[in-house]
Amino acid sequence: MRLSIRRIFYSMSCLFFLFSSATFASDPREWSPTRKLPVEKRPSNMLDLLITVPGDVRASQFFSPISCGACHPEIFKMWSGSTHSNAWKNPLFQALYNLGKRTAEGESEKKNLDSCVRCHFPIGHSSGGDPLPAPDDEKGGVICDFCHSVRATTGIGNAPYILSPGNAAAMEGGTKFGPFNDSPETIHQSKYSELHTRSEFCGGCHDVSHAGNAIPIEQTYTEWEEGPYNTGDPKTTVHCQDCHMRQRPGFPSTGSTERPNNPGVASPEIMGGKKRQHIWTHYFVGGSTNPLSLPPGSDVNRQMAIERLKNAATLELSVEPGYKKGDVLKFKVCIKNTGAGHYLPTGLTELRQMWLGVSITDAEGKILYQSGKVDEKGTVDPNTTIYHTVFGDKDGKPTLHVWSATQILSDNRVPPKGQKEENFVCLVPGDVNAPLKIKTVLYYRSAPQDVVDALMGEKSVKLTIVDMAETSKDISL
Ligand code: HEC
Ligand code: HEC
Ligand code: HEC
Ligand code: HEC
Ligand code: HEC
Repeated sequence: MRLSIRRIFYSMSCLFFLFSSATFASDPREWSPTRKLPVEKRPSNMLDLLITVPGDVRASQFFSPISCGACHPEIFKMWSGSTHSNAWKNPLFQALYNLGKRTAEGESEKKNLDSCVRCHFPIGHSSGGDPLPAPDDEKGGVICDFCHSVRATTGIGNAPYILSPGNAAAMEGGTKFGPFNDSPETIHQSKYSELHTRSEFCGGCHDVSHAGNAIPIEQTYTEWEEGPYNTGDPKTTVHCQDCHMRQRPGFPSTGSTERPNNPGVASPEIMGGKKRQHIWTHYFVGGSTNPLSLPPGSDVNRQMAIERLKNAATLELSVEPGYKKGDVLKFKVCIKNTGAGHYLPTGLTELRQMWLGVSITDAEGKILYQSGKVDEKGTVDPNTTIYHTVFGDKDGKPTLHVWSATQILSDNRVPPKGQKEENFVCLVPGDVNAPLKIKTVLYYRSAPQDVVDALMGEKSVKLTIVDMAETSKDISL
């Protein structure tokens, strides 16, 4: 009798294995984490254990965000407008992911496509669902009960999380891991997690390497780790959360602005919440302003992204004095990353675009010189320097298909608290009306318009171009 039960279990687990391997061809333990941290640099709950793999948990164990929102309404509202809530249904993500699924060739490329789900729909990956739920699945994206069921991680990169959920199907709240050590017990238990208070939590996902060939794709955590905001002293270190979870309307909370506390309650007092000096905000704002990346009803998040971008960089324009008509005018523009805790831009840097627009006008406003112009189709003048990375495929050709990338061809982004310079030359006509005005603007756009048009077809939208900074100077001749 005992034996037969065992046999049934055994054959069930084999069947289960077959099912889950139908969706995910690769074992994530082969590619996650991408690296371990030395013990002295780890939060107390970064551990040498095995990560959660497909089938370890069931999707029905997790609560939908709306059920967390019943007692955490403010946090729910902020999060609902964020790219985290949209990470799976994001039409731009879906278009690229599905293109990859259709065209990826060979084991390395296919492994890379398995990895997309681990970050963009962590509950879908961990539960090994077959087939994958629809884009509008309520547990898709990076949701409350994913982040707050992370008991530990095992390192940095490619989503090395260990999940310990409750059981929503049986109305058991389980334990939520967070920043407090004195939360009252409610429908769920609460536990302090040092991991959640540090950049290493975000660095689980915000550090992406190709799952097949291990080339670095997104390095936001590593950029931060090696940069000036990670001082090594807990009192002065500025974590991801200090910039991204202090932001709210009017407080961009960047490297160049104040990052004040946000006093309030995590849950209304009648629900058991305590008045606290600081509640971490959940808008998770980056540079995304467009209606593909942001979910519907995210006007506040959109405005905050513009505010964030406007407090990320400054421009310095230097011109030697003493030019005359007929001279060759030379000047220098310096882009300073004053606000971002990582390279500018960071993240999906093969798509992101940052560039300088420069114009010189005469006393009547007539244009004598212009660069960095965008045509009516939305294409940036091809002679313009774009600050981003370029990936190459196995033949050395530039590619935007991350799964077929095997090398990095170039990377000219601006390091945290660092700068980049560009030099310009222009002939001053002999008959010009002085003074001349040099104007320069730093622009940001989430992706090239033609790339979005090709991916989205008729569903394409015109991406906003945000002015991050501008400066100008009059030149008397
Ligand atoms: C019945 C109400 C209720 C529901 C539903 C609820 N919470 Fe809570 N939660 C609370 C209260 C009350 C606190 C304590 C707040 C405080 O200490 O100020 C809390 C605290 C927390 C904390 C802080 C824990 C710590 O120690 O740092 C987290 C994280 C959290 N909840 C996440 C969630 C998530 C995720 C969900 C959905 C799965 C959820 N909550 C659903 C009432 C609720
Ligand atoms: C990307 C991961 C992530 C998601 C998604 C997320 N949180 Fe959090 N949350 C955090 C982190 C990290 C902290 C603590 C930040 C710190 O201490 O530096 C936190 C803090 C909290 C707290 C403690 C109070 C506070 O804000 O300081 C509560 C309660 C909470 N979250 C509830 C929720 C709920 C409800 C949702 C969904 C509507 C949610 N969280 C979504 C990561 C997340
Ligand atoms: C499960 C993996 C995961 C974790 C953990 C995670 N993120 Fe994210 N994050 C994502 C994904 C995926 C996106 C992109 C979603 C999209 O654009 O569709 C994203 C987007 C963002 C953006 C918006 C970028 C933009 O272009 O506007 C910010 C800011 C951000 N995350 C900050 C954080 C911070 C801070 C933490 C830690 C407290 C964190 N994330 C933890 C996966 C994660
Ligand atoms: C000193 C403040 C600061 C710190 C610390 C910081 N950021 Fe940022 N972050 C910014 C600013 C400002 C922007 C907007 C400019 C940009 O897009 O890079 C930004 C943008 C982003 C973006 C969107 C980038 C894009 O262009 O698509 C992501 C994702 C992000 N941050 C994640 C993180 C993560 C993860 C960490 C921690 C490892 C972190 N940030 C630490 C200030 C900060
Ligand atoms: C280890 C985690 C991780 C993996 C694996 C991953 N991503 Fe992402 N993805 C992110 C994060 C974090 C961001 C946000 C970065 C930013 O905003 O610049 C992001 C952003 C994106 C975006 C930008 C969305 C927008 O609206 O701007 C697209 C598209 C995307 N990922 C596609 C993919 C595809 C396709 C795969 C698999 C081939 C993949 N990602 C694998 C973490 C991951």
